[in-house]
Amino acid sequence: MTRDLKNDRFIRALCHEPVDCTPIWIMRQAGRYLPEYRATRAKAGSFMDLCHSADLACEVTLQPLERFDLDAAILFSDILTVPDAMGLGLSFAAGEGPVFARPLRSRAAIEQLPIPDPENELRYVMDAVSTIRRALDGRVPLIGFSGSPWTLATYMVEGGATKEFAHIKGLMYSDPATAHLLLDKLSHAVTDYLNAQVRNGAQALMVFDTWGGVLSPEKYEAFSLRYMEKIVDGLIRNQDGQRIPVILFTKGGGQWASRIAQSGADGIGLDWTVDIGTVRRSLDQAGDRKIALQGNLDPSVLYATDDVIEQEVARVLASYGHGSGHVFNLGHGIHQHIDPARVKTLVDAVHRLSRPYHSA
Ligand code: CP3
Repeated sequence: MTRDLKNDRFIRALCHEPVDCTPIWIMRQAGRYLPEYRATRAKAGSFMDLCHSADLACEVTLQPLERFDLDAAILFSDILTVPDAMGLGLSFAAGEGPVFARPLRSRAAIEQLPIPDPENELRYVMDAVSTIRRALDGRVPLIGFSGSPWTLATYMVEGGATKEFAHIKGLMYSDPATAHLLLDKLSHAVTDYLNAQVRNGAQALMVFDTWGGVLSPEKYEAFSLRYMEKIVDGLIRNQDGQRIPVILFTKGGGQWASRIAQSGADGIGLDWTVDIGTVRRSLDQAGDRKIALQGNLDPSVLYATDDVIEQEVARVLASYGHGSGHVFNLGHGIHQHIDPARVKTLVDAVHRLSRPYHSA
């Protein structure tokens, strides 16, 4: 297969094709730990102003690629653009995270919720995708993304970040039909949004299910995974003759990997609370078709010295073992107080230490 990419390790690993070394990218690789991000962000004004400008979103997407030998770029945007386009009124209060002006607190509000047309209400995201794709010029693939229906629903019903999930779990247990109505609408909105990203230039997709892990196994299946499966079923999987791989990442969902493997996704994201090799072997034993694994270094390892970072990288690589099918990443987003020099150590260590695992 010919791909118009100078570096296609990331796509190859997701498709279980041979690679020279293990590819790596980092969740939240464009972000506040980079002084150049903070400078662009200050120039833009608010975080949403940065997302609304295709040129500035492109600038910050490329910043980590200038510093580090990363194998993928990820669209600079946010998962909460979709609820914002559905009319909930998103803002980011300094130090408090996201806030919705109009959280969903009634069946009527959920019934009235529109499904946005990504080419219109989310035009600014599509413009960012096409601008970034052009600027990348085939250097590395561009990952598009969305939140999972369950994760978006938690923010939309709570009105912002939460530790208790009182409103969304209250809705799930007391009025499951209304919760399903919301999740069904979101699965349509997310499918349209991701497909529009592919049409505008995204070369791989990732669904962030940040809060699926707060559910019981039975509820995870019914209220989160089921809707991610609907999305996977509705996605464009080939564009211009190239596979568009999709990764599902449920934070805290490693215990359900063999179930997620049946979703039809190409890859599963893992956090650091599971051993990646143990998950790989359990999938092999279950005879699951070859699914790739992404992860799973504890982001806090980056607070340590270079020696420790290299040891921990070596441990994850050894745990996964030989062959393709592994995309290295942190188990969750990089923290804002990390020294960028440690990130360089990480990226270079992954490439250098993984080579023996890919020799014939
Ligand atoms: O990974 C990347 O580099 C691409 C960009 C990206 C952002 N958010 C930029 C961002 C991606 C993929 C996301 C996803 C996202 N957003 C998730 C899922 C992944 C995860 O972390 O679990 C979630 C839950 C959100 C919602 C969100 N956005 C929160 C809770 C916050 C506040 C976080 C904080 O630390 O203040 C955001 C804001 C946000 N999104 C920032 C960035 C770089 C910080 C904004 C700033 O500059 O002030």
